[in-house]
Amino acid sequence: MIPMVDLRTQYHSLKEEIDSAVLQTLEATQFILGPNVHKLEQEIALHLAVPHVISCASGTDALHLALAALKLGPGDEVITTPFTFIATAEAIAYVGATPVFVDIDPRTFNIDPARVAESVTEKTKAVIAVHLFGQPANVHELMEICCQHRLWLIEDCAQSFGATVGGKATGNFGVIGCFSFFPSKNLGGYGDGGAITALTEEHKQSLLALRNHGSYSRYYHDMIGYNSRLDEIQAAILRVKLKHIERFNKERRRVAYRYNEQLKGLQVQTPYEDGLGHHVYHQYTILTKDREKISAALQQHQIASAVYYPVPLHRQKAFGTRYASLSLPNAEAVSQECLSLPIYPEMTNSQVDEVAQAIRQALRH
Ligand SMILES: Cc1ncc(COP(=O)(O)O)c(C=O)c1O
Repeated sequence: MIPMVDLRTQYHSLKEEIDSAVLQTLEATQFILGPNVHKLEQEIALHLAVPHVISCASGTDALHLALAALKLGPGDEVITTPFTFIATAEAIAYVGATPVFVDIDPRTFNIDPARVAESVTEKTKAVIAVHLFGQPANVHELMEICCQHRLWLIEDCAQSFGATVGGKATGNFGVIGCFSFFPSKNLGGYGDGGAITALTEEHKQSLLALRNHGSYSRYYHDMIGYNSRLDEIQAAILRVKLKHIERFNKERRRVAYRYNEQLKGLQVQTPYEDGLGHHVYHQYTILTKDREKISAALQQHQIASAVYYPVPLHRQKAFGTRYASLSLPNAEAVSQECLSLPIYPEMTNSQVDEVAQAIRQALRH
């Protein structure tokens, strides 16, 4: 049995540290905005070398609060990718703004800056770039476009904790970066959680208030905010895991390179690294015309696989017929052929070889 992620093995490898952190939190009984939350924010800021980190309840909330802090709303357009988890676009809808989907680069699966540039209108206020599967989007071109048209660049870093461009961590390139600590993420908690990086003091202050009922001082509310605080127990667990994130990401890259080697010569397209940034392989996603055949064979061998994502966002029912006439051929084609294979830091080389062998066999028949 090879799962997509093996959270139990990871827990057992850190059990002493995690159990002790959780028990200390239970004893301290400071469950909301306690010391672990504040320390985690400082430690992440240091780790990513960003000026400000504001934790919150989820990656989805991070995106929502970011757009609220930038005061985006009805009538505003936000350009983003259709090939991502729906939360990226949900956040745009939450504030009443309009998602404008543009096509992706079919090799990296990330938003194509040329398509962004040609889609800017007078209503465009922001671009959300997703560093999909752990590979940084082309931030330099995106920053240039945003600068030229005076747009906010927001980074969706839910899948890219620790990924870098020119040695700088994702979360440093946009005015705001949004992270998720969903359990299966590169840095994952044991429940929901998220964080926002901010470049300016002004945005930091807005975000601090927005995540806590619009309040800077207890029972004084300067704006209508939200209940979106990171849980103290999650913060305690994440502080333990943060100490190991570089090793986790390094191990993910080992697994990815092993797959590349093992899948060489087969009729599958292995992940393309564009060389602009450092990929942290939240997912290892191949393209194949034999997706059904491969996933069925893997299942027979008790090996998990997953399709991230089978339906691009402009084709999701949630948006009704709004994008019915929009054609984004790269995103549509990739969603038909993508298949993500198991990848996690604790995966052994022989497990990788087993997955590759099952794929090799499937393609022979
Ligand atoms: C690209 C992307 N954006 C946003 C999210 C939302 O994060 P969360 O599940 O923590 O709300 C996720 C993951 O779930 C994601 O993969």
